[in-house]
Amino acid sequence: MDAPPFDTVLVVDFGAQYAQLIARRVREAHVYSEIVPRTMPLEEMLARRPKGIILSGGPASVHVDDAPSIDVALYDAGVPVLGICYGAQLVAQQLGGEVRHTGGGEYGATSLRLTGDTSPLFGALSDEQVVWMSHGDAITSAPEGFRVTAATPGAPVAALEDRDRAVYGVQFHPEVAHTERGQEVLKAFLYDVCGCRPSWTNSSIIEQAVAEVRTQVGGERVLCGLSGGVDSAVAAALVHKAVGDQLTCVFVDTGLMREGEADQVTETFRGQFHVDLIHVKAADRFLAALDDIADPERKRKIIGETFIRVFEEVARDVEDARFLVQGTLYPDIVESGGSENATIKSHHNVGGLPDDMQFELVEPLRNLFKDEVRAVGEELGLPEEIVWRQPFPGPGLAVRVVGTITTERLDVLRRADAIVIEEVKRAGLYRQIWQSFAVLPVVRTVGVMGDGRTYEYPIVVRAVTSDDAMTADWARLPAEVLERISSRIINEVPGVNRVAYDITSKPPGTIEWE
Ligand code: XMP
Repeated sequence: MDAPPFDTVLVVDFGAQYAQLIARRVREAHVYSEIVPRTMPLEEMLARRPKGIILSGGPASVHVDDAPSIDVALYDAGVPVLGICYGAQLVAQQLGGEVRHTGGGEYGATSLRLTGDTSPLFGALSDEQVVWMSHGDAITSAPEGFRVTAATPGAPVAALEDRDRAVYGVQFHPEVAHTERGQEVLKAFLYDVCGCRPSWTNSSIIEQAVAEVRTQVGGERVLCGLSGGVDSAVAAALVHKAVGDQLTCVFVDTGLMREGEADQVTETFRGQFHVDLIHVKAADRFLAALDDIADPERKRKIIGETFIRVFEEVARDVEDARFLVQGTLYPDIVESGGSENATIKSHHNVGGLPDDMQFELVEPLRNLFKDEVRAVGEELGLPEEIVWRQPFPGPGLAVRVVGTITTERLDVLRRADAIVIEEVKRAGLYRQIWQSFAVLPVVRTVGVMGDGRTYEYPIVVRAVTSDDAMTADWARLPAEVLERISSRIINEVPGVNRVAYDITSKPPGTIEWE
């Protein structure tokens, strides 16, 4: 196997959420990290020539039957090891120390005290600092040959190390923001213990992705569907940088996009990047197919099928295209089982395209987290509106016009939605809010304007905070922002006489209304 292009640190997965956060923090220190399943044989891990191996936290206890474990030969493999939380307990237990269920446990912020024995991990730290803990079991005695370098009130062995073997463990979570100096601890492990160079930077990520795309694609033609979202835009820009005119982008304008979105896509890709872009104006076709359809799942199905048909017609015209770009991200790959095979299988049937249209996939973002995709997008010169766009459902505004869809109702929603976005941006909140948008319900309500009574639509404003859309909370938008949104919508959008704010979390609500 060739030497990896970047110094690599492996994060062994003992709990996927913990492992992903650690991997992201390592990359923020400009060191490439990969998450590997704990079942991966040690030889396979070592074959990747890692400069260090981090054992992640996880929800299990080392005492349960079948507690997840790792080959003890790891500790003598000559590669520095850092165990975090569960990982630290595993180090202690496997090497002859003691882990006990002490009864108390520690959850949340606690004070870490260094024992006075200097540690390469803690060089920059003061004697006492706040760290974040989440453990029921505690290491009660370190294995022979290990020194205890820090303690907390509930963890007599909060950090341990065997410098000769370069095996380290910390009971606290250096990867979470609540551990104030956590990133410094990780950096000390990466730079000082593992000897990693900080070479994983935006420009090196781009260089590497471009080289890989060139190797994969050769002189063949490549197709890429643009959705208006950040992932497909960054993927397209990367592939364009790699193979220029060999790329043809297809943007299917469903008529269900947000205000200005279609123009933004065409201006950016045609005007700024000079990409060969096919802009399919298919709004009439989508609206005709959706005529009189009120059921949300039928809407989704119709939109999906119409999209495939339109894309297929265009793709057939680009006769010699052999490759299709897909904006798969690293978390999609980790979550679909972590192994390369699982990924290839789950993506085998490219977005439901017909069997006789076989493409090979180009996935230039498959090693990147979302924040890295954004940083790469900025570096490539994509506009802020695209790079920082909030997530948007595939069926677009169709699932926000509750009930049947007409051009008139779509226009009302689109104008109200644009005001919500504009005001959230003006308040400087757009990036910290996961999604903010308008919904148009089916009812009409009574109002009074001037001398007369009105009978018009209400608009529901929805804004949520979230990390991954699995759970969400309604955003506490300042009253002044809500007030501006409300008065602007009522004054500027004909047909609306009332504005409501949705204060439902997920669960029990969903983010979308349909
Ligand atoms: P819910 O409404 O289920 O949404 O809380 C979770 C996330 O998924 C998005 N969403 C969709 N995305 N096709 C998509 O591509 C869909 O049919 C769809 N429905 C919901 C939603 O915007 C949120 O980010």
